Amino acid sequence: MKFRLALIGFGNVAQGLAKILVEKREYLRRNFGFDYRVVAVADIMKGSIMSKKGLDLGRLLSIAKETGSLRDYPGGVRGRSSIDTIREANADVLVEATWTNLKDGEPGLTHIKTALNEGLHVVTTNKGPIALAYHELAALARRKRRHLRFEGTVLSGTPAINLATEALGGSTINSIRGILNGTTNYMLGEMEEGRTYDEALNMARELGYAEADPSGDVEAWDPAAKITILANVLMGGEVKLKEVRREGITGISHSDLREARSTGSRIKLVAKAYRDEGRIKAQVVPERLPDCDLLSHVSGVLNAMILSTEVQSDIAIIGPGAGGDSAGYALLSDLLALNRACCNC
Ligand code: HSE
Repeated sequence: MKFRLALIGFGNVAQGLAKILVEKREYLRRNFGFDYRVVAVADIMKGSIMSKKGLDLGRLLSIAKETGSLRDYPGGVRGRSSIDTIREANADVLVEATWTNLKDGEPGLTHIKTALNEGLHVVTTNKGPIALAYHELAALARRKRRHLRFEGTVLSGTPAINLATEALGGSTINSIRGILNGTTNYMLGEMEEGRTYDEALNMARELGYAEADPSGDVEAWDPAAKITILANVLMGGEVKLKEVRREGITGISHSDLREARSTGSRIKLVAKAYRDEGRIKAQVVPERLPDCDLLSHVSGVLNAMILSTEVQSDIAIIGPGAGGDSAGYALLSDLLALNRACCNC
């Protein structure tokens, strides 16, 4: 199937997807029957451009890289707001990759609602709208008979949501345990090796792991949003982000980490969702893990998710949890799932 894509947000993540779409176009056509036309790109910093005939994605990528703006792209309609772009681009899929805002989910939340109301499918890596309004958005998507997919919101390009809902579809997930933030896991490892907190944070920022506002990482808002998504989507919870028990890594020192190592354990920022008297609860708290715990060996930017189902305990997946190219693959996997679903309609 050939999809008309509108890309809202053209930072690291959307550019990660764009590179894959350009490089693998033939492969995706041949092996999956998937093809695309990009009809609009809008980014708050780089500007917006729209063309019903289609934009040259490779050219957009190189212009964005060279100039940090889309203004030098020849032709097309420019200067539309993101909302007008969604309404006017004649797209059938919104790729929403704007920044995460965990206070009110904006602007991603309005982008997604507008797109669903306009009859577009949505694929997104934006954690804000899904953490804050998953049930509302899922109900809207069902009413509009559109797909809403968000694999990249948790564990970046490492399969998490789709693994549980598709490969393990039909299972009841009783509990989830994991390391869901690449920045803090990377920082804890570097601090264990002797870097200061600030050095480790700067390195994580340079590598593109940290959020625009890294307090989202170090104060554990980011993994709290991810465990909220997992609890609500995979376990049917009604967890609210602000009610998640949350403690970050700002109070952990180099000597805490060294002391833990000297006794054969490691300090990790562990996220959990579990059932408690019929309710789903979630928390993110630093824990001292013994060497025999799989999570104690998840290092660097790697993340991990361990699912326990009613039949199979401890199904684990480990992989990169941050980075634009990795998240680009998450968007691709959602687009291919959409392609499979739409081909079967
Ligand atoms: N800042 C996030 C992390 C990015 O470090 O895990 C991926 O969600």
